[in-house]
Amino acid sequence: METKQDELILAIETSCDETAVAVVKNGTEIIANVVSSQIESHKRFGGVVPEVASRHHVEQMTAIIETAMDEAEVSFTDLAAIAVTEGPGLVGALLIGVSAAKAIAFAHDLPLIGVHHIAGHIYANRLVRELQFPLVSLVVSGGHTELVYMEGHGSYEVIGETRDDAVGEAYDKVARTLDLPYPGGPQIDRLAHKGEPTLDLPRAWLEPDSFDFSFSGLKSAVINTLHNARQRGEQIKPEDLAASFQASVIDVLVGKTKRAVEEYQAKQLLVAGGVAANKGLREQLEKTFADNDVDLIIPPLSLCTDNAAMIAAAASIELAKGNYADFRLNGNPGLDLER
Ligand code: KG4
Ligand code: ZN
Repeated sequence: METKQDELILAIETSCDETAVAVVKNGTEIIANVVSSQIESHKRFGGVVPEVASRHHVEQMTAIIETAMDEAEVSFTDLAAIAVTEGPGLVGALLIGVSAAKAIAFAHDLPLIGVHHIAGHIYANRLVRELQFPLVSLVVSGGHTELVYMEGHGSYEVIGETRDDAVGEAYDKVARTLDLPYPGGPQIDRLAHKGEPTLDLPRAWLEPDSFDFSFSGLKSAVINTLHNARQRGEQIKPEDLAASFQASVIDVLVGKTKRAVEEYQAKQLLVAGGVAANKGLREQLEKTFADNDVDLIIPPLSLCTDNAAMIAAAASIELAKGNYADFRLNGNPGLDLER
């Protein structure tokens, strides 16, 4: 049962190809978490088609809000606030969630909170365990690859980021080269576990003191390796190519993360974003930080990929600070995490 002091936030996430609505109690406890995926509609195009995504969000939005409210057994009068992903993401997709959130906030006179999508991914970790500062978060998603330093709640400093492709993007492109269906990340992960990392692929360490990443060279190396072999009429086992690609990605991600954790004396290491669902990455992080003082959190798979519970968890911090949005809130595809 909810008591009067309990803070219930309804959150909406529509930044890409999932229509998601959640109700979260006190920023930490999931009461309902509904995710409607559009993957099947985008598969035949080999990627997300923005216009198709927007249309699906419009069709699904009201029904998903109702489902989440029913599952949570709450009414709008029980809520403390409405939260929504403000950006980054596909502008047309964001707009559907933002419009729905504004309508509910206006109709029920509730505070409105705009959330950065990556802040949401980071706060998925708070649904596992209370955060301890200072912390470092490794963010690995379809659109972002960055190391974020946090001194306290709601404070984000990007200490390193990709200079070209995001890691999820590299996964999806390599998968397409291997004729695997969208989204390619989970497919490569599955193949990698059946193969051996026999191919010598590059690792972009960049300058010795840099926490930045680069994955486009690796992606090109994979594509070239495959094309050259095909031209010579040689066979490369896709399993071995996937394993070699994944080994290179994980080496760099884990290597740089370890250095960041040490340099910033982090008490916690959080992992965030869709690629955090990667089995190889999870295993390597667990191994690397097993004997380390740092407390490693990796959310369960359902909280790694896009969902609205993470948006509610991040919003709870903004609610406590009184950081409300007004009705000028708009979808912002270029929203800055450090603002
Ligand atoms: O965070 P997310 O759900 O959406 C964005 O905010 O981008 O991340 C989606 C990305 C896709 O590129 C997908 O291929 C990748 O996460 N992904 C994975 C795995 N599961 C999802 N990549 C590698 N291994 C996985 N198991
Ligand atoms: Zn995401």
